[in-house]
Amino acid sequence: MKKNLFIALEGIDGSGKSTQVKLLTEKLEQAGHKVYTTCEPTDSPIGKIIRDIFTHKMEADHRTIAGLFVADRLDHLLNKTNGIIKKLEEGYTVITDRYYFSSYAYQSTHMDLDWVINANSLSANLLRPDLNIYIDISPELSIERLNRGRTSIELYETLENLQNVREKYFEVMEKLESVEKVFITDGNRPPATILDEIWANIKTQFELSETV
Ligand code: ADP
Ligand code: TYD
Repeated sequence: MKKNLFIALEGIDGSGKSTQVKLLTEKLEQAGHKVYTTCEPTDSPIGKIIRDIFTHKMEADHRTIAGLFVADRLDHLLNKTNGIIKKLEEGYTVITDRYYFSSYAYQSTHMDLDWVINANSLSANLLRPDLNIYIDISPELSIERLNRGRTSIELYETLENLQNVREKYFEVMEKLESVEKVFITDGNRPPATILDEIWANIKTQFELSETV
């Protein structure tokens, strides 16, 4: 039985990724796993540049943004103190809020999808998630949730863009069906119901027991 998994949560903005990362972490910890949670964009200096662009403190071309995400992801994997690969070696189950599928979906609305996939091939060859969990909500619900919880709107958070991003997610999940494990869950249900479905899937797929 493989004990420490690498799981990526994916979905459009406001789909409930951070909520499920938290709930899934609790569930795995109760089952006796050491869990390390992380996210992209990261807290590294590269991640900070990306966040400054997203909050309109800086401006950059979409191609530059795509390149920054590639670099941020490589540091996320390879960083010697808190990189994902190191954490996995230390026995942690790692859950990340977004990974390369986010680049495939978000950046390919502005540039060629194959370019984005190729640009991320170093990361994909270093580490593919044991499971990508895609939380599906409509772009309309996304905007509704974002408006409820935020005072300002970030780059990419418009209805039209989120419609395109959701379509791209489905396009790329189908395109990479033979190499990526993806579990799609309906995000328009109570958080506990979504967690139950995710947990049932993980338990069956990876033969996890409640007490490890
Ligand atoms: P993300 O990390 O994907 O942006 P969050 O987990 O931060 O999403 O959720 C966005 C907003 O929606 C938050 O206010 C959160 O409380 C709420 N939310 C999350 N999951 C659900 C759900 N299943 N049903 C209703 N509201 C939810
Ligand atoms: P995030 O902080 O996860 O936002 P949210 O919690 O609202 O989902 O991500 C910030 C933005 O970064 C989000 O709009 C998606 C975008 N993004 C990309 O465009 N490409 C990527 O590779 C990643 C990881 C995120």
